[in-house]
Amino acid sequence: MSEHIVTQQSGALRGEVSLYGAKNSTLALMASLILTQGISTLRNVPASSDVLQMIALLKDLGAQVHLVHHVLTVDTRTINSYQVRPEIMKKMRASILAMGPLLARFGKARVAFPGGCMIGTRPIDFHLKGFRAMGVQIEEKGSFLEAHTSDVYAVENSRIILEYPSVGATENLMMFAAHGSGTTTIVNAALEPEVLDLIEVLEAMGARISLEPVATIKIEGAQVLEPIDREVIPDRLEAGTIMLATSILGGEVTVTNARSRDMELFLSKLREMGHGISVGDGGVGVTILASPAPRSVNVKTYPYPGFPTDLQAPMITAQALANGVSVIEETVFENRMMHVKELQKMGAQISLEGSKATIRGVDVLHGADVVATDIRASSALVLAGLAAEDTTTITGVHHWRRGYDKLEDKLASLGAKIKVR
Ligand code: EPZ
Repeated sequence: MSEHIVTQQSGALRGEVSLYGAKNSTLALMASLILTQGISTLRNVPASSDVLQMIALLKDLGAQVHLVHHVLTVDTRTINSYQVRPEIMKKMRASILAMGPLLARFGKARVAFPGGCMIGTRPIDFHLKGFRAMGVQIEEKGSFLEAHTSDVYAVENSRIILEYPSVGATENLMMFAAHGSGTTTIVNAALEPEVLDLIEVLEAMGARISLEPVATIKIEGAQVLEPIDREVIPDRLEAGTIMLATSILGGEVTVTNARSRDMELFLSKLREMGHGISVGDGGVGVTILASPAPRSVNVKTYPYPGFPTDLQAPMITAQALANGVSVIEETVFENRMMHVKELQKMGAQISLEGSKATIRGVDVLHGADVVATDIRASSALVLAGLAAEDTTTITGVHHWRRGYDKLEDKLASLGAKIKVR
């Protein structure tokens, strides 16, 4: 039988854990290194399989990459290819983030359309429209994209209006704009903490970037972008998963390096449920003292600073065991409710209309064999399995491995009964 996660009903969680760097920042920062010639270092990097996949991409381009004890060193002087092979593109959507940096470095890029996934078709039209608005010629040849600029340094003053604050499109276009002599303005940009982390890295490399109202990023390119040495921001999604586990199981847990400013709405929802939330000096470090009878709350996912779509699934699990009725609606992805039917197998009382779930809290869930369908669905099922009577077996562990670096060990250190076999 392929690898699976086994959980037993667990008691209250107690203790403290620290976070690795955010996966969704790490992937963008790794792609941005393609813009530089030299040896860069990223610290507190999670050894999750998405990160290992991005390492494979950089090596395939010719870079020398080492990840030792969560410190990533990348020598980009030996990068000698402007194309990402299809077999690499298909393995991870975030490979598309190499397109902007390759265009900036070589004046051309050859990539394949990244695969969709279970949560949606995940098109890249906003990326392509933005590149074209910046003078990039893009030809679609079957599943391939051949892109080139007339002169890699002739990025004129462009003004791009994104029709949706897409995280990936904002990051891809920013990385392309960071190299060269023009000034690029991106309106209706994504402003997730991971995007802001990339902005700080691009500035450290030598680009000049400013944020203007409303949701506008202005990038002044630099002819040379220098290597960097940088700690990745802590993973707010790992933090949210640990806190929701505490909401469900009870107890008191401190996440030592969580940044409260990255998760204000999420923390206010935990307080609305009745949990005690305290924040350390400077907004670093968050402690949750779980309420013995959490109240149901309503949630609608939105781009940052709205409620994160990546915490929607584990939040549904928390509501399945809260007191009352809650409505949770997913607005960012078109098909991100597949964990609901798996939770129903465990006794959760959830009715679904499209992407709107109405959840009636129950006292207990029962163990079952369930299937994880995406990274965040896997965390929803792990949390449900830790609360459910008997044993729960979760397959689809590769999703868990994609998004988290041994999160099961951190949960076990707090008292959770969880094993990956
Ligand atoms: C990033 O994906 C994250 N991934 C996702 O995390 C996260 O859920 C998402 O942002 C939203 O916060 C990484 O950063 C690697 P989008 P991304 O472009 O950039 C549509 C996880 O579990 N869209 O903001 O792909 C798209 O289909 C992952 O860690 C277009 O229509 O998200 C979606 O409905 C899952 N055309 C919406 O916009 C485009 O060109 C938001 O997508 C681009 C996006």
